[in-house]
Amino acid sequence: MNVAIIGAGSISEVHFNAYANNPDVTLYAVCDLNRERAQAKADKYGAGKVFTDYRELLADPEIDAVSVCTWNNSHAEISIAAVEAGKNVLVEKPLCKTVEEAEKVEAAVRKSGKLLQVGFVRRYSSNTKILKRFLEAGDLGEIYYAKASCIRRLGNPGGWFSDKERSGGGPLIDLGVHIIDLCWYLMGKPKVASVSGNVYNRLGNRANVQNLSFYQASDYDASKNTVEDLANAVIRFENGASLLVDVSFTLHAKQDELYVKVFGDKGGAEIEPELFLVGEKHDTILNMTPQVDHLSFNFTEAFQSEIDHFVDSCLGRKETLSPVEDGVEMMKILCGIYESAEKGHEIRFDR
Ligand SMILES: NC(=O)c1ccc[n+]([C@@H]2O[C@H](COP(=O)([O-])OP(=O)(O)OC[C@H]3O[C@@H](n4cnc5c(N)ncnc54)[C@H](O)[C@@H]3O)[C@@H](O)[C@H]2O)c1
Repeated sequence: MNVAIIGAGSISEVHFNAYANNPDVTLYAVCDLNRERAQAKADKYGAGKVFTDYRELLADPEIDAVSVCTWNNSHAEISIAAVEAGKNVLVEKPLCKTVEEAEKVEAAVRKSGKLLQVGFVRRYSSNTKILKRFLEAGDLGEIYYAKASCIRRLGNPGGWFSDKERSGGGPLIDLGVHIIDLCWYLMGKPKVASVSGNVYNRLGNRANVQNLSFYQASDYDASKNTVEDLANAVIRFENGASLLVDVSFTLHAKQDELYVKVFGDKGGAEIEPELFLVGEKHDTILNMTPQVDHLSFNFTEAFQSEIDHFVDSCLGRKETLSPVEDGVEMMKILCGIYESAEKGHEIRFDR
């Protein structure tokens, strides 16, 4: 299978690596607005062709599939053009910036008959697969509550991440998308009934802070920041379950924090910071630590699993775990939270 990668920045490196490890794949072409960046990746990974215009790349009939690793503002446009050109698509999260765009992508995917996998990489990690088995076997009973938090006290990456026009938003669309999707997936993808959210722009990017380092995008510029610092939300589902979430790029918190927990009527589980199961047997509470290689999320392992699954799905051996319609549903939740915060009241989804 000939694969091309569009967008040759930070995250593309893990896509290149994972494809390079997959025996069914030939890395065929690279595209980036920045030619030098695309050329450097092509040289490193032995891809023969380099483009700066994704349309020219998509016109090449030898290409079977593309990874879209560009800024969020071009995900929809490139994904639509790719499926229309007959390519299968793996698009990085979030699917796009708005619900309207998401629905256009879904319509184009349906019409083309091609595959589009959304890069919800956490669904593909071994720990998610382990926990999913417990959930599907009914060991935790019915999941009625989930709770997720991804707090950075100093972690606005700047660059395109803090430019709302290119990103679509701040920590909610960048970090929230991962943890909300993970909860929703583990809960069995119940239909969303309503969201109520709050968004704050109180601290900015805290560029004044000294003596504490954090990840900065390559085009970091402390004077530019148009995204929120903090978002929180309650998401209600039609089956009565609820999800409580908060995420930040900056906050006066004691320390950074990441947790993802689900609670059912027979047991509970944590998948972040570490996989952990809680149960009850013979009137006794049991706290159980699974004996596995990585109790925490393993970035390299999860990306390899995601890309191998994408390749297998393209070759008709598997069904993707993160189809386009799930990307659309996630955009409804994320955009609903922004809308709720703006309007100051709950947003209901009438179906
Ligand atoms: N799954 C994850 O855990 C994860 C982690 C980081 C980033 N991401 C996602 O990956 C995407 C890229 O993030 P990044 O950190 O690599 O950003 P980046 O800025 O490092 O790289 C993006 C690259 O895309 C190029 N680009 C932008 N628009 C383009 C276009 N229209 N045509 C061709 N090239 C274009 C830019 O020149 C840049 O080189 C984002 O959507 C982000 O949300 C996902």
